[in-house]
Amino acid sequence: MALLEVKDLSIYYQMHRGDAKAVDGVSFSIKENETLGLIGESGCGKTTIALSLLRFIRPPGKITGGSIIYNGTNILDLSEDGMRRLRGNEIAIVRQEAQNALNPVLTVGEQIAEQIIEHDKVDKNTAWQRAKDQLELVGIGADRVRSYPHEFSGGMRQRVMIAIATANYPKLLILDEPITGLDVIVQRQLLKLIADLRDRFELTIIFIAHDLSVIAENCDRVVVMYAGKVAENSNTSDLYHKPLHPYSSALISSYPSILGERQELKSIPGAPPSLVNPPPGCLFADRCEHVMDICRQKIPPEYDIDGRSVACHLYEHSKEPQV
Ligand SMILES: Nc1ncnc2c1ncn2[C@@H]1O[C@H](COP(=O)(O)OP(=O)(O)OP(=O)(O)O)[C@@H](O)[C@H]1O
Ligand SMILES: [Mg+2]
Repeated sequence: MALLEVKDLSIYYQMHRGDAKAVDGVSFSIKENETLGLIGESGCGKTTIALSLLRFIRPPGKITGGSIIYNGTNILDLSEDGMRRLRGNEIAIVRQEAQNALNPVLTVGEQIAEQIIEHDKVDKNTAWQRAKDQLELVGIGADRVRSYPHEFSGGMRQRVMIAIATANYPKLLILDEPITGLDVIVQRQLLKLIADLRDRFELTIIFIAHDLSVIAENCDRVVVMYAGKVAENSNTSDLYHKPLHPYSSALISSYPSILGERQELKSIPGAPPSLVNPPPGCLFADRCEHVMDICRQKIPPEYDIDGRSVACHLYEHSKEPQV
């Protein structure tokens, strides 16, 4: 059974020039213990989706349609109390650029303990002891419990954020670009920590990234987003070896491959369209090597192909176009 099922989710940012359709009819699901990658260019709606799963969307943002079913319950129907119980205990997030979001005037121990007390009815001593355990768990060491964020490197601050997010033993952990902006060695160490935590606590993970090689190594499935919609949803290996959507294919050739042979990197010409007044039809049409007349007229439906899905008119008649 799916642990999380997002169905036809739409989230708009209400601007005076009109609604920006940041997330438009998005559906995907995650099984227990699965790691799902969410990728796509900047502005395609990844963070907006991540925040909506904890109902953290604030005005001018608004969830305008769809459902988010967690363990059989639509979280959009939960009371604020119900939401508080869910946050941290069931679903937790390490937000994008979280390593810069620690409170500079509190020790890391206080910040972890605060999170524990907020969601679990434990006394201060227990919370402090658990904060130390969390610091051990993320490889920082309990002896740093009284250190302040400025005494840590970016990678260590990200470990503290992971310690905070996992402090109440969530089932689903959302990591929004957890290694972006860190150097390669630190990135590797963090990925190893995330994989260790996943195995040890049987976590289900949503891993948001720009870098496809990161996704390739760490995710079972990948949802490729483009301009607020799902372009392709596929298991990782098939996505790499045989992308279905022309956008997936372009993304793969625009990043160094760790799985395939070396090839020249291509950037994708052009930019995504406006989300306020998008053109009719497929939003990728202007940048697509395979564009056809119908692409500028009709929004492509999602076609199911061998357990994968692709929103592209190329698949209307044929199962196997080459992109
Ligand atoms: N608070 C906001 N107010 C208005 N528009 C917003 C707000 N937050 C996001 N948006 C818009 O919603 C769209 C999706 O943004 P989002 O941050 O979800 O993208 P993203 O895929 O996470 O991008 P990135 O890779 O840069 O983190 C963008 O067009 C963005 O400008
Ligand atoms: Mg983002």
